[in-house]
Amino acid sequence: MSLSRVTVTAVRNLHPVTLSPSPRINILHGANGSGKTSLLEAVHLLGLARSFRSSRLLPLIQYEQPACTVFGQVLKADGRLSNLGVSRDRQGELQIRIDGQNARSAAQLAEALPLQLINPDSFRLLEGAPKVRRQFLDWGVFHVEPRFLPAWQRLQKALRQRNSWLRHGTLDAASQAAWDRELCLASDEIDGYRRAYIQALKPVFERTLEELVELQGLSLSYYRGWDKERELNDVLAASLSRDQQMGHTQAGPQRADLRLRLGAHNAADILSRGQQKLVVCALRIAQGHLVDQAKRGQCIYLVDDLPSELDEQHRRALCRLLEDLHCQVFITCVDHELLREGWRTDTPVAMFHVEHGGITQTHDHRE
Ligand SMILES: Nc1ncnc2c1ncn2[C@@H]1O[C@H](COP(=O)(O)OP(=O)(O)OP(=O)(O)O)[C@@H](O)[C@H]1O
Ligand SMILES: [Mg+2]
Repeated sequence: MSLSRVTVTAVRNLHPVTLSPSPRINILHGANGSGKTSLLEAVHLLGLARSFRSSRLLPLIQYEQPACTVFGQVLKADGRLSNLGVSRDRQGELQIRIDGQNARSAAQLAEALPLQLINPDSFRLLEGAPKVRRQFLDWGVFHVEPRFLPAWQRLQKALRQRNSWLRHGTLDAASQAAWDRELCLASDEIDGYRRAYIQALKPVFERTLEELVELQGLSLSYYRGWDKERELNDVLAASLSRDQQMGHTQAGPQRADLRLRLGAHNAADILSRGQQKLVVCALRIAQGHLVDQAKRGQCIYLVDDLPSELDEQHRRALCRLLEDLHCQVFITCVDHELLREGWRTDTPVAMFHVEHGGITQTHDHRE
């Protein structure tokens, strides 16, 4: 799948623009502050109805403008076209349209346009809180396992019920026991999907990493959120008084994590910034391969400031892996000379120059 057309209106400093990107490699280059990241943000808005730069969408809307809008025409793996639109106004109204219909949730967008983001903040996947790694994991599970989302929604409902009961004790014991059973069933189901996913991801990740960088002894493992030797029901019973004190449930899939270790150490404590970036790239590229294998179409990669932190050899290796994914990729950089050469002759590469919010195509992939 790829975006065959993107129309952006009133996103940060960008002039109204319609682009016809290459189905494969797209390079956006320009000076600092010209609007490169803003274009990636616009595509991100189209795929996830949110920004990656701030938790709020308001800063995304161009000064003096009432709303920002992004439209995209998606060419799907089966050759059909789909039209997506996301609009956000200053009052907070978010409108999502998929093929002329209002969409109820951002999950429908995510399904229609799977996006992978690699940007200078990506090291947070290693250094940040477990929540960041859970989001990474669940992105992958969501895109390869259709039963994941309903199970996750059941878990959230049961968890809200239990946490409210822990704080206010509103239900009788028998009714709460029924909710706990539901919680445990949904938890086991989610754990099963996540485990299967990690099992499939690991070898692909290891292969990808090997092609990118030499890092002996890097291991990826999964923590399910509670003791692997015990049933969740027993863990919940044993920690009831502590849960009541804390006012929320301590154990369960809402506490799952991925662990990346280098020998005996936490990888984030040992790796250099460039190595961290390469590990994150390998994880995200591996996810793209799994989405592809699951025949759910390919995802689209947004790589902000690709050359940063990387020397020439690693930059080339990363470009080669992105190229070999056969996905649509949007890459930004300040100096396009670094990325101009090295692509295979049959790979369609489009170049765009971004200047003071205006975007002009300088090299057409059809030329
Ligand atoms: N809501 C807004 N309205 C208008 N302009 C904005 C808004 N928010 C940010 N800007 C401006 O938009 C410009 C584009 O920023 P952007 O981050 O896209 O640049 P960039 O090309 O990625 O730069 P860099 O190479 O430094 O990463 C900046 O000059 C910023 O000040
Ligand atoms: Mg930028």
